[in-house]
Amino acid sequence: MNNTSKKILVTGGIGQIGTELALALRKKYGADNVFITDIRDEAPAIITDGGSYDKLNVMNYSDVEEFVKKRGINEIYHLAAILSGKGEENPFLCWDININGSMNIFKIAIENKVQKVFVPSSMAAWGLGIQKEDVPQESILRPTSMYGVTKVAGERLSEYLFLKYGLDTRGIRYPGIISCETLPGGGTTDYAVEIFYEAIQKKQYTSFLKEGTKLPMMYMPDCIKATLDLMDADVDRLKFHGDYNVAAFSFAPEELADEIKKIIPEFTIDYKPDFRQAIADSWPASIDDTPARNDWDWKPEYNLSTMVKDMIEKLSVKLK
Ligand SMILES: NC(=O)c1ccc[n+]([C@@H]2O[C@H](COP(=O)([O-])OP(=O)(O)OC[C@H]3O[C@@H](n4cnc5c(N)ncnc54)[C@H](O)[C@@H]3O)[C@@H](O)[C@H]2O)c1
Repeated sequence: MNNTSKKILVTGGIGQIGTELALALRKKYGADNVFITDIRDEAPAIITDGGSYDKLNVMNYSDVEEFVKKRGINEIYHLAAILSGKGEENPFLCWDININGSMNIFKIAIENKVQKVFVPSSMAAWGLGIQKEDVPQESILRPTSMYGVTKVAGERLSEYLFLKYGLDTRGIRYPGIISCETLPGGGTTDYAVEIFYEAIQKKQYTSFLKEGTKLPMMYMPDCIKATLDLMDADVDRLKFHGDYNVAAFSFAPEELADEIKKIIPEFTIDYKPDFRQAIADSWPASIDDTPARNDWDWKPEYNLSTMVKDMIEKLSVKLK
């Protein structure tokens, strides 16, 4: 398929990742070929200024199917989901949206000959009994959060549908994603975004994760690059489907604070852990992403200090 014959649907397209992925897809394939949707009535100007936006609830099978048929959609990036923090507040809703919503997308894709479907997984797929450092691609998956349970089920579904129906499903176990375009939507790594807003505006931040909670993280440009690179990869090279490990860097809250202090010396941090601490404690500290590097040449561009410098530069302009 050449680029102009692609017709791409993005669900959950005005969330933290969806917004920046949508903009990157428009740039790569042309705004007329990318259909940004979300359950919310209104989209921000950054989305509506450059192309279409439609309200679309992934729980409504007939609406989504009609949308796919009418626009001749042949590729889907399915980002609509309930994240880890919100998922623990309402586990049944989390299961419903993350599993039944994804099932709708998968079934519609199979029945309408959609060629590729991208559904993200997460480091939340891990849990009890894992190797904390450099957790390998093929490892035990015993999540303790409902969000994690839905991510493991989603990974298995992706692979099952590839094997059974030949649906070209692809997915990445994203680490915590740091960005400044759109606020995160209720996850356990949200502190690593909030801290920048508070550092710039108040010079102080109270972290909901305690000192020493080292987690894998990634800057948004690398998240977008990983997503587009995986979707571009030759399917014959892919040994995995819905669950590629990717890694960039890892840090604990105090290490991020130290890096921020290099640019904003008066910044201070204190700690008041909440229910998200237990979720974070079940996740790995670092990830081994050898199969992604071998199968589709994955390589991140940002490290902790280049990410912090870029975030502060961009956010300082935005918050002026
Ligand atoms: N942000 C991260 O750090 C991170 C890390 C790992 C995995 N992920 C995964 O990446 C994907 C996108 O995450 P995000 O951070 O952009 O989340 P987000 O919460 O910012 O965005 C999700 C979007 O889905 C929309 N949505 C919710 N229910 C919907 C429905 N029924 N129909 C249509 N849209 C609906 C929301 O309005 C929201 O805009 C998710 O699958 C998430 O699990 C994110």
